Amino acid sequence: MHQNALASLLLGAGAGLVAAHPAPSWWKESKHHHGGFPSGPSASTSTAATSSYSSYSLASGSSYSSYSLASGSGVASPTLRGYAASSASGVAYSTGTGVYSYSASSVVSVAASTASAVAVASSTAVVSASSSNSTAAGATEGEVASVTASSSCTFTDLASAVAGKADCTDIVLSGIVVTAGETLDMTDLTDGTTVTFEGTTTFGYSEWDGPLISFSGTDITIQGADGHLINMGGEQWWDGEGSNGGVTKPKGFYAHDLTDSTITGLNIKNTPIQCFSINGASNLKVIDVTIDDSDGDVTDGGHNTDAFDVGSSTGVYISGAVVKNQDDCLAINSGTDISFTGGSCSGGHGLSIGSVGGRDDNIVENIYIADSTISNSENGVRIKTISGDTGTVKNVTYTGITLSNITDYGIVIEQDYENGSPTGTPTDGVPITDLTLSDITGSVASDAATYYILCASCSDWTVSGVDLTGGSASTDCEGTPTGVSLC
Ligand SMILES: *[C@@H]1O[C@H](CO)[C@@H](O)[C@H](O)[C@H]1NC(C)=O
Ligand SMILES: *[C@@H]1O[C@H](CO)[C@@H](O)[C@H](O)[C@H]1NC(C)=O
Ligand SMILES: *[C@@H]1O[C@H](CO)[C@@H](O)[C@H](O)[C@H]1NC(C)=O
Repeated sequence: MHQNALASLLLGAGAGLVAAHPAPSWWKESKHHHGGFPSGPSASTSTAATSSYSSYSLASGSSYSSYSLASGSGVASPTLRGYAASSASGVAYSTGTGVYSYSASSVVSVAASTASAVAVASSTAVVSASSSNSTAAGATEGEVASVTASSSCTFTDLASAVAGKADCTDIVLSGIVVTAGETLDMTDLTDGTTVTFEGTTTFGYSEWDGPLISFSGTDITIQGADGHLINMGGEQWWDGEGSNGGVTKPKGFYAHDLTDSTITGLNIKNTPIQCFSINGASNLKVIDVTIDDSDGDVTDGGHNTDAFDVGSSTGVYISGAVVKNQDDCLAINSGTDISFTGGSCSGGHGLSIGSVGGRDDNIVENIYIADSTISNSENGVRIKTISGDTGTVKNVTYTGITLSNITDYGIVIEQDYENGSPTGTPTDGVPITDLTLSDITGSVASDAATYYILCASCSDWTVSGVDLTGGSASTDCEGTPTGVSLC
């Protein structure tokens, strides 16, 4: 029976007797003698509820006969014995000292104490009445007072997680091995759901577009338990060609249509290509996320491993990110009210806006990128817009940025991109206005350029405390706004 159906049966008093429900096939006494686990009832009898109790009658598979759980003001421990399970997903069982919650074949939690049982299932929680009342009609063994959409659901395999997610508001993804070619699909979660990655999450090899992980919902918290790792296994795909060629590689983590949500403390390793695609998000915080693709440098295989690609979002606040990769640490293609603060980027292409232009949404506005370091990267600060297209880059601040060992450009702003490459001829369709560059310091590699500006429409820039050493400013600068003398 589906948990919601069970819930409605148990919640409403007077709903009458429900037909016996067969026990899940795994419900065999012998499987469940874990330490401290009490022995089950010996063939208790099913009892009919009276009109004052709705009840749920549960039949067992082997040595258990049916058992009735009624709602109401009912009887709880110490005599609660039995289970309440949604479709093969769990069991509640008590002998008076507690209620044990099961997932498949193992104890996943022990909740509650005498006479205040809680319980059940990976997708169901049964809360017993607080007082014992063995005289309640229809309840010879026990009864429960209410069933709520799960307080806790721990999943250890992909299929159960995807099937059970809608009934859970506290999901634990424990050591999930994601089948090759499938998505760890956590889209359309119930409002207010928390999802915790626990243990190591791994992904099978398949040449496909992905994504490996996908989330959507409102008021969602996505977090990592201590010691967890989301290992995307990118080395299986890496061929040095990224998304430009070679084998088809899956995208990493879709954070699409997440509203009023938080992604925090995730530890991600070896993304095949791009990691986070943040799109259609509204008020999304991304806090203390680590993305380590540094193995891709050792093998020379990692390519286009952007850490955070942001598009068509309003209110995305990324803080404390630690990124080691081989492409943009941040790339904002469109969106408003986006910040990146307290981050550390290494190995990639820097903190970028763009390329802007040529999409459905080409507005980049109110961007705050601050207090971050960029090292061992091709670029530090970068804004690029697409040649011949239209759009807006407005009110962008880069402040408190420290660069070291930048191999191409310390600060590069150019309006000449086409098919992913610079053309050398800027166009004015995507003006870059109200740009603030302040307190950008550090050094570039000796053969790199500190500054390169190629503009056809750039105005109202405020530059202060920008002081990069090493290399030299590009001699090819063009269209630098009045009052700006970087090169
Ligand atoms: C016990 O159940 C009976 C039958 O429903 C009810 O009349 C009585 O008030 C209950 N007692 C307590 C203490 O809940
Ligand atoms: C400019 O962007 C900042 C975020 O960096 C925001 O706080 C501010 O309100 C914006 N200014 C305007 C005029 O919208
Ligand atoms: C500078 O960064 C490049 C990668 O962009 C790296 O290959 C090189 O080893 C770094 N040099 C130093 C001195 O760290």
